[in-house]
Amino acid sequence: MGQTPTASASAGGTVALRGALLDCIADPFYEPAAQAVRYIPDGVLVVRDGYVAALGPYEELAASLGELTVADYSGHLITPGFIDTHIHYPQTGMMAAYGEQLLEWLNRYTFPTERKFADPAYARSVADLFLDELLKNGTTTALVFAAVFPESVDAFFEAAEARHLRMISGKVMMDRNAPDYLCDTAQSSYDESKALIEKWHGRGRLLYAVTPRFAGTSSEAQLKQAAKLLDEFPDVYLHTHLSENVNEVAWIQEMFPQYQGYLDIYDQTGLVRGRSLFAHGVQLTDDEFRRLSEAKAAISFCPTSNLFLGSGLFRLEQAKNPAHPVKVGLGTDVGAGTSFSLLQTTNEAYKVAQLRGQKLSAFKALFLATLGGATALCLEDKLGSFEPGKEADVVVLDPKATPLLALRNQGGIPETLEALEDLLFSLVIMGGDRAVAATYIMGERAYSSASPCTP
Ligand code: GUN
Ligand code: ZN
Repeated sequence: MGQTPTASASAGGTVALRGALLDCIADPFYEPAAQAVRYIPDGVLVVRDGYVAALGPYEELAASLGELTVADYSGHLITPGFIDTHIHYPQTGMMAAYGEQLLEWLNRYTFPTERKFADPAYARSVADLFLDELLKNGTTTALVFAAVFPESVDAFFEAAEARHLRMISGKVMMDRNAPDYLCDTAQSSYDESKALIEKWHGRGRLLYAVTPRFAGTSSEAQLKQAAKLLDEFPDVYLHTHLSENVNEVAWIQEMFPQYQGYLDIYDQTGLVRGRSLFAHGVQLTDDEFRRLSEAKAAISFCPTSNLFLGSGLFRLEQAKNPAHPVKVGLGTDVGAGTSFSLLQTTNEAYKVAQLRGQKLSAFKALFLATLGGATALCLEDKLGSFEPGKEADVVVLDPKATPLLALRNQGGIPETLEALEDLLFSLVIMGGDRAVAATYIMGERAYSSASPCTP
């Protein structure tokens, strides 16, 4: 053993990664860390044909590895790939748009930017850059808004397919309160979405999400057409925005006076289901949290975006209330979000919790970024932990990636869970793309900080 980390499990191949293995096997919001977290300080993860085959202490498995190539990441943490449950690829080039809150920000910056995604070549070039940026940040799966143009979905899925990524996306449906150049109709959005589902849903690792932008830009007729698609294709997702900003909630209530509230609009039109994911939920009422729990729907908590747009502080403890638990994942929400990094997203999530008098432990943060995200996307049987049989999407983190982190983590990889929690917390707060040493997709190395341009 002792090879430099170049090994990858090409189709039909087997590979092993050695390092400190860390994953969540239960939810640390409800279980003590000792039960929820699996930690093997000197471990080995064996990947066969892209799937986790085995894991355990290196000294126990070493004899069984035989001639197998072992990628040696001693001194590093190896965790499941991060899962971003809400992001917009067309907004990659418009991060850091100055000075507005949600509704003005959409009109002034977002809509003109998304217009450019009618051009398939432009859309493909941004999709390529976007996916490379995700991999560089250790994100291996995401639920992604495309633009209103079907070509923008084709471009995204083609780029994801070329990288063998498990990605979920869909065409934005929007038929009002936006410039004509971005509007479809209830019927055309149904027809185009249906054709895209038939083309892409379940092709390789790709999955489709029916994607009405939000109640503000969809007529009731369009929301009902979205629900019709969910009836016809019960295993596609529903992906939209919900209760993000105070002015947005008031405006939508005026627009839909016959409904009891924002969530009720989606509920009465048939969109609140077990495969529905709602981004934000900052302004949700207690009753709305209860209803989401009952429906087994999920929320994407997007702290960098919520702070950037001044939307507010998400009530994570209410979402995770054991009396009515709601599935929660983390979202970067680029381009209202300010980073592609889920480690920077946990940093801001921690601060949002602090401002609300709550604590977000390092293990809870790790859960949200991995198994929690997988569960929010109903993919916990495939992703989010190192359970044998799951897809081997993996991130390798360097706790000494920068001089500051090296100073903070002088002791190196610890033996105990308690000491590990402190090291992990340093990455939850100070980590970012530089902390990602490598990203593996189905056991194949797709990114390495040592050779970022040629994986
Ligand atoms: N609500 C409707 N559209 C959007 C969007 O593009 N970004 C965010 N953050 N909220 C939205
Ligand atoms: Zn969004």
